[in-house]
Amino acid sequence: MSQKRVLSGIQPTSDSFHLGNYLGAVKQWVELQDTHDTFYCIVDLHALTIETDPALLRKRTLASAAQLLALGISPEKSTLFIQSQVPQHNQLGWIMECMAGFGEASRMTQFKDKSAKVGSDSARVGLFTYPMLQAADILLYQADLVPVGEDQRQHIELTRDLAGRFNARYGDTFTLPEAYILKAGAKINDIQDPTSKMSKSSGSGAGVIEIMDSPDANLKKIKSAVTDAGREVKFDQSEKPGISNLLTIHSALSGRTIAELENEFEGKGYGDFKSAVADVVVEYLRPIRERALELLQDEKHLLSVLHDGSAKARTVAGATVDATYKGLGVVQ
Ligand code: AMP
Ligand code: TRP
Repeated sequence: MSQKRVLSGIQPTSDSFHLGNYLGAVKQWVELQDTHDTFYCIVDLHALTIETDPALLRKRTLASAAQLLALGISPEKSTLFIQSQVPQHNQLGWIMECMAGFGEASRMTQFKDKSAKVGSDSARVGLFTYPMLQAADILLYQADLVPVGEDQRQHIELTRDLAGRFNARYGDTFTLPEAYILKAGAKINDIQDPTSKMSKSSGSGAGVIEIMDSPDANLKKIKSAVTDAGREVKFDQSEKPGISNLLTIHSALSGRTIAELENEFEGKGYGDFKSAVADVVVEYLRPIRERALELLQDEKHLLSVLHDGSAKARTVAGATVDATYKGLGVVQ
């Protein structure tokens, strides 16, 4: 039996992924490679919905690719590509815009949140049409499953609605995708403010562990992570959010269970525990960062890996656009 198709995308909007991105998303992308036919896309066109600096966009796109490869996305197992190198995304994006209702698009909560933040005069039209481009990203590859965080569920539902509408009106063209919501346990919180999500937009960044930060910087950050009242290393999300978050991080990277860790640190203080977490994180990330830096040093090679991925993606995407145009009656 052929494998189910998976597609996901990530925006190149930061110099480094953080531990939340890795444990909440990319680690599961890596795992899916062995059981699914996986397509992973760096969605640089989506990143244009906010003001961008050209040098930064380029740097971050390459840095994202290098980190995905260093984290275990394999060009042999997956099709890893840059969205803008596959023009079919824009072609199908327009068709999806013509399928979507204005009211339907206006109900997208991510659009409402993001546009409210900047005000309607500053919000770009691209922010409004973002979900239809995302629908195109998914439908072009006839994806069965879309691994994303909970916040993206509404966009996947919209994608299904648009695909179903097109199929009903113009003939069976698209696979209806399902959201594959990433495991809740993988949610990582800020280590300075452990009741909020670790996020690239967090104020000082002191609570965010970045993959591309030096081992020294990460060691210091973890050693100064906030802890909680008491002195027992116990998993208790409401009473001990700081310790619970550090236990989650340790367990996810070391592969040991939370119970094992609680046992090991029984009778020891928070200081010992934080040193152990720091060691695990730093040693886990060290080779990944080194590999990413190595990949970034040989830009020609990195670009050729991405060009190969984009060429494969164009073949699949091209067939979908042809079928879509045919259904619509576009003269080809
Ligand atoms: P973002 O760039 O914030 O949109 O995140 C990219 C991916 O990482 C999405 O799939 C998110 O669900 C995931 N992600 C971001 N922050 C966290 C976090 N703190 N814990 C778990 N997953 C996260
Ligand atoms: N909107 C997604 C996010 O913010 C990124 C994205 C763009 C995406 N296109 C996609 C995710 C297609 C899954 C599939 O995280």
